[in-house]
Amino acid sequence: MVTDDPQQYHALQARLELTQGIPFTPNWSAGADFIQLIVDACLNNRPKQILECSSGLTTLMLARCCQINGDGHVVSLEDGLQYADDTRGYIDRYGLGDFASVIHAPLQETAVDGNSYQWYSTDAIPGTAIDMLVIDGPSGFIQKHSRYPALPLCHPRLSEHCVIFLDDAAREDEQAIVRQWQEHYPELRHDYRNTTRGCSILSR
Ligand SMILES: C[S@@+](CC[C@H](N)C(=O)[O-])C[C@H]1O[C@@H](n2cnc3c(N)ncnc32)[C@H](O)[C@@H]1O
Repeated sequence: MVTDDPQQYHALQARLELTQGIPFTPNWSAGADFIQLIVDACLNNRPKQILECSSGLTTLMLARCCQINGDGHVVSLEDGLQYADDTRGYIDRYGLGDFASVIHAPLQETAVDGNSYQWYSTDAIPGTAIDMLVIDGPSGFIQKHSRYPALPLCHPRLSEHCVIFLDDAAREDEQAIVRQWQEHYPELRHDYRNTTRGCSILSR
């Protein structure tokens, strides 16, 4: 099991001036070094539409980046009702409602490339072009290749310059997912970052 270093999260919290607490849960929050990468990308690239699979600390941090940018919006898909409510609580606490929407999207049977997966309702995927896709759910224990559907289902809505971030990419399951994505979408460039849990970044 990967051990999180709370100090790294505190450093991010201080950087983004989130002085009223953060929803940090050891081993369940995205890794601090992964969040560092998506925060830097959000502040540098200034995406207008961000789609996130799984809500929590990442949602709060990305929404705060959009607020700093003065532009952009995060749509976060969350299958757990209580987790969705908790994340909304933090978004409200910081007055970030203009920059993030947490959608309770229970997992449902979804056919993708000839296989069946439990994935978020596709009705919740925004109609506007997605500039940044952050994949940190559904949880890996739910099924084999749990996060595979994200790219095939979102691909038609990705903007030309969309950047995709996959957390936990050091795991064999995620590595197999990235190999399948690259077979289906050879135009995607893959950049692997050696974060604590591994991060795969895909872009055109
Ligand atoms: C790896 S977590 C990441 C959540 C979010 N991206 C973050 O950084 O906080 C993925 C999913 O696990 C679920 N989850 C979160 N905390 C949990 C916990 N303590 N026990 C079980 N499942 C949890 C939620 O449904 C969440 O969407």
